[in-house]
Formats: sequence, C-alpha cells, structure tokens
Amino acid sequence: MRAKYICLTILFLPFVIHASIFSSDSIVHPEVDQNGMVVSQHYLASSVGAQILEDGGNAYDASIAVAFALAVVLPRAGNIGGGGFMVMYDEKTNKSYSIDYREKAPALASKDMYLNDDGSVNNKRAREGILSIGVPGTVYGMWEVHKKFGSLPWKKLLDPAIKLAEEGFIMSPFMVDALNKRYKKLSNYKNFKKIFYKEYPVQMNKRLLQLELAETLKIISKKGVKGFYGGEVADKIVTDMENREGLISLQDLKEYRPVWREPLKGNFKEYEIITMAPPSSGGIHIIQMLNILENFNLEELGHNSAAYAALLSEVMKFAYADRSKYLADPDFFEVPTSRLVSKQYAQAIFKKIKINKVTPSSEILPGKLIPYESEDTTHFSVADSFGNIVSNTYTLNSGYGSGVVITDTGIIMNNEMDDFVSAPGVPNQFGLLGGEANKIEPFKRPLSSMTPTLVFKDSSPIIATGSPGGSVIITAVLQFLLNMLVFDMEISDATVVPRIHHQWVPDILFLEKGFDINHAREIESFGQKIISSGPRTSLESLEIQNDLFYGFGDTRRPDSRAAGY
Ligand code: GLY
Repeated sequence: MRAKYICLTILFLPFVIHASIFSSDSIVHPEVDQNGMVVSQHYLASSVGAQILEDGGNAYDASIAVAFALAVVLPRAGNIGGGGFMVMYDEKTNKSYSIDYREKAPALASKDMYLNDDGSVNNKRAREGILSIGVPGTVYGMWEVHKKFGSLPWKKLLDPAIKLAEEGFIMSPFMVDALNKRYKKLSNYKNFKKIFYKEYPVQMNKRLLQLELAETLKIISKKGVKGFYGGEVADKIVTDMENREGLISLQDLKEYRPVWREPLKGNFKEYEIITMAPPSSGGIHIIQMLNILENFNLEELGHNSAAYAALLSEVMKFAYADRSKYLADPDFFEVPTSRLVSKQYAQAIFKKIKINKVTPSSEILPGKLIPYESEDTTHFSVADSFGNIVSNTYTLNSGYGSGVVITDTGIIMNNEMDDFVSAPGVPNQFGLLGGEANKIEPFKRPLSSMTPTLVFKDSSPIIATGSPGGSVIITAVLQFLLNMLVFDMEISDATVVPRIHHQWVPDILFLEKGFDINHAREIESFGQKIISSGPRTSLESLEIQNDLFYGFGDTRRPDSRAAGY
C-alpha cells in the first residue's frame, strides 16, 4: 500500500536508505509513533489509552480504559449506559474475535409499544425518555474483553475515568456547543440538567464535575460487572424504572450477557477484511459493496470523479435495499449472511450496474425501507507493540441517548430501542418504513449500522477503522477503505476527503461539502438527485506500516485525536 508514494531517501552515508515516513503528496498528516497508537473522538481519552500502553498494558487494556474515559469526557456517545461492538485481533492466538455487547430489549418490551391508539408511531416515546432505553451492555462487554485478553488490573483501567469524573475536565468548545444546541430537549430531564446545565448557555472554559458518575465508576472498579448489573447501581436503575414507568427489571439486568460472535470475513484485492457480523448490518454491507466494486476499475474512474461517485451511489442503493429486508438480530431472524457476502451475489448485482447510468431506487427492490437512525455514536481504534489491534464502536444512539440520567448515579441511558422498527408498514418521521425482521421482541438486539473493521495484509493487521453516524457509518467506512486500499492515500487524506452517501431511500445522493461542484452537476445530468450535506461521520482510524503506527482523528469532530506512544 502507498508503495508508489514511498520514495527511497538516500542519506549522506552511501548505502543507507530508508523509506519516507510521510507521503509527500499528503495535505494533512497523521500522528506517527513507534510503539502503539490510540485514536478516539476525544483527546483526553486518547491520552488515557496511550498512557495505559506506555504503562505496559496491551491494546485491550487501553481500549477498556478509553471506553470508560469516553463515558466521562464524551458523554454524548461514550457510555456505560449503552452498548456496542468490538472487533479485535489477538496476536498470541493469531486469531480475530468480535464481541457483541449491544443493548437488548427488556422482557416487557413488545412489538407495538410505541404505537398510539390510532396506530400511528409515537416517535417521541421511541426516541426519548424512559421507554426508549435498552438494557445496557457496555460494562459487561468491557468486563468480558478484560477477562479474556486484559493484562493490567481492572481497577487500573477505571482509575483515569474516575479521576476525570471526580476532578473534572475543561469542556471543549465543541462539547459546549453540543450541549447548548440540545438544551431545549435535554433540559427537560432533571437529572441531566443538574449535571450538564448548571448554567445556560453553558460557557467556555468551564470545568465539568461528574461526582455521581465517579462514585458509580468506583463501584464498578471494585465489584466489576456485579457492580453494575447487581447491587446498589442496579437497584437505582430499577427504582427509576419503577418510578417512571420504565420497563427494565432487575432480572433484565442480571440476565444481560454479551455474545462472542464469529467476525465476518471478506477479501478485497490482496487484503482480508475482518468486520462485525449481525446484529450489525455494517460488516455484511461493507463486504457486499467491496465484492461488487472489485469488478470495476476504480482507479481509472478517478477518486471522487462523477463516474466514480455515481457508481458508488448505485452500489450503495443495492446494499441498503437488502439491509431493509434481510438484516436483524441473528438470534431472532435467520440473516442470509453467506449469500449476501458471496462473490456470486455480487456478480449478479454488478451486472445490473452501468457506469454513468442511474437506476431509480424504486426499480432496485420494492419493499421495506430503512429505519431512522441518529448520527451520534463513537469509535476508537487501538494498536499495541505486541501485535494486538482493536476496533470498537459503541453508542447511546442519539447524542446523550434518551436524556435519562439514572438518579444518583450519573449514568446517561441509551435510546437504542429506536433502532428497532416501531411499526412495519407505518412511516416514521422521515417517511421511511422498516422491515419485519427488525421488529421489537423481548430480549432482542436492535439492528445496528456500527462497522468496526480491521484490514489484514499477508495475515498481519494493518488498519483499524470505524465511525459514528447511524446509517452513514457504513458508507463512510467503505470510502475510507477504498481511499486506502485502491487510491493509496495517506490515512489523514483518506479520512478528510469529502464523502458521499446514498441509502436507497430517499433516492438522494448526499455529497459532503467540498465535493467538486462540476462533478456534482455531472452526476445530476445522469439523472441522480443530489443534495449537499454537512459532515455526519467521524472516522477514528489507525494504520500499521513499516513497523510504524499511524493514527488520525477525523477533523469533522474537532476533539478527535490520535495519541501515539
Ligand atoms: N445507534 C446507531 C447504530 O447502532 O447504528
């Protein structure tokens, strides 16, 4: 990769040559270091992870510490009250693993729980407040990863988060903005208001203390998983549920378990792609789209040319059409994974796609459309000097989740129940319909788009990537992989170049600001409706090359940072 840009530099001494560290073509450069790399959506969390690596911890230790630190410094998406997926490569066993710690519907959840008497969907109830909360999985997920792969004591991994919550940290301008923008909605939640809106508007350069969260983290630090799914923290969750007519019971908490799932594998050119299987839809569609795209000469079309963007848009339509029908929690619905990721199926779609020709979405597949998803969530990537690598995406769903903060605990709860389809056949607020496969059922996990992904070359891990962004995650990861693996871009350029997005319905191609206006007009002339869109994703990726670790935090979310060691 990037071979054509790596020039050999002859130093003063004859016969001493070395490969350039940076690409001379790149307009934005990544962080580079020799012993490991942590990339996350918050600079304080990235530093926490890098310090754990420096203290002798492995990538798993650092990941756990980052996950807990993000719950403090990035409360819009980092969490202990949500869930997610981690894909990882373990050097010792020379194997890839993935863990699904996605939230689950409580036992009392039911298919029609968000319907009004007249059959319409009560979107507010599905997206905000006590009924939108799924049983959280993050603490159990981190616990399982620690049990299997951790090398430092659990307590040491929680210490930085406890310190950040107890001593506080100066809120970044981005966080101040995020809070002020959501005041109208979130100030309705009194526990949330007490912590985050001591004043309004929230001012710059203020220290945020989260003392109740610090106490909760101390309990989890001392008692491990039992400190969240049982004992006083669980009691407080259940008390709030009972007082506010929520559904999560002590039994739901006690019975919650994450699942180690076989990661999904695909091949693209000389690379192996290792990604998340259902209940994420991301992995399947990344592999499906790469399988289709490998039939085209993408380099010849040119990066972000009209023909290239229009081609990607066509491929995306086919993938998202399938998503609406075939994807859901595999414990409840037989997802036809092997057929969707087969090269044969990709060939069949490839034959339907013509360069510079637009197929209207209505002609691609009649049927169920896709559900609303929020554009929050967060991703981090970690690699260590032992050869381990981690790609983790986790979420509260919307920014700051349901808005519910469990009394006296500082735990912000997710609104993940909205990732289910509230009512097949009934349009949601965006005029979209959802599939039967993803209907609400007790103990089920809602379908996700989170796409934590690893890339291997010659059996060694070389890339970890992922992003927030709801349904836009999948197309962001796809384009990042193409930028790296086809267009040989430096990781920083591969991250910052404008992205496009099509999700079948609505039949609109979203072009990120900065996309060439002339190419946009040309795509329009092919018959594709286009819209210019703001940034909706944030890739937090790393690359290992020539024994060096490259990391780049996406500038679309300004607190993103790579921290090397
Ligand atoms: N809640 C966003 C996702 O899981 O895709």
